[in-house]
Amino acid sequence: MTVRPILIHPDPRLRKVAEPVADLSDELRRLADDMLETMYDAPGVGLAAPQVGIGARVIVMDCVKEEGAPRQPIQLFNPEVVASSDALNVYEEGCLSIPEQYAEVTRPAEVTVRWIDRDGTEKQQDFAGLWATCVQHEIDHLNGKLFIDYLTPLKRQLITRKMTKLKRERARGL
Ligand code: NI
Repeated sequence: MTVRPILIHPDPRLRKVAEPVADLSDELRRLADDMLETMYDAPGVGLAAPQVGIGARVIVMDCVKEEGAPRQPIQLFNPEVVASSDALNVYEEGCLSIPEQYAEVTRPAEVTVRWIDRDGTEKQQDFAGLWATCVQHEIDHLNGKLFIDYLTPLKRQLITRKMTKLKRERARGL
């Protein structure tokens, strides 16, 4: 497995709608494995394929945060929210493509998600807590949407300006 570079906002590839996966191939399984490796390395709790520059509907997650708890990696191909609770939840979200910026985002507290697993089997599961927030955040990535889109234009501009500066500094090797 390989750690892949994570794109930093603003980047046009983070704003494109990703294409559905047609057939589960070894290449796609390798992509999902690399994404998990990249996510654990960062470290983060979720990652979407557009964040590593691949416009395919693939996300990975592991929202187990307790120190020493066994890993619970999950790879979802063509994930889709099929039902959302009326109850809402506020979480302070961050994003590996927007490093060190956090903001409260309100989303449905529970969602039912349907997807295809790495063997091509259709799955459906309810997610709650951090898992629910995370799966919605990652599916947003597949639609070219970032958590900062839920903030006021002013906050969004402020964060985008910081990220532009960060990218400039990184490019200079500072
Ligand atoms: Ni993100």
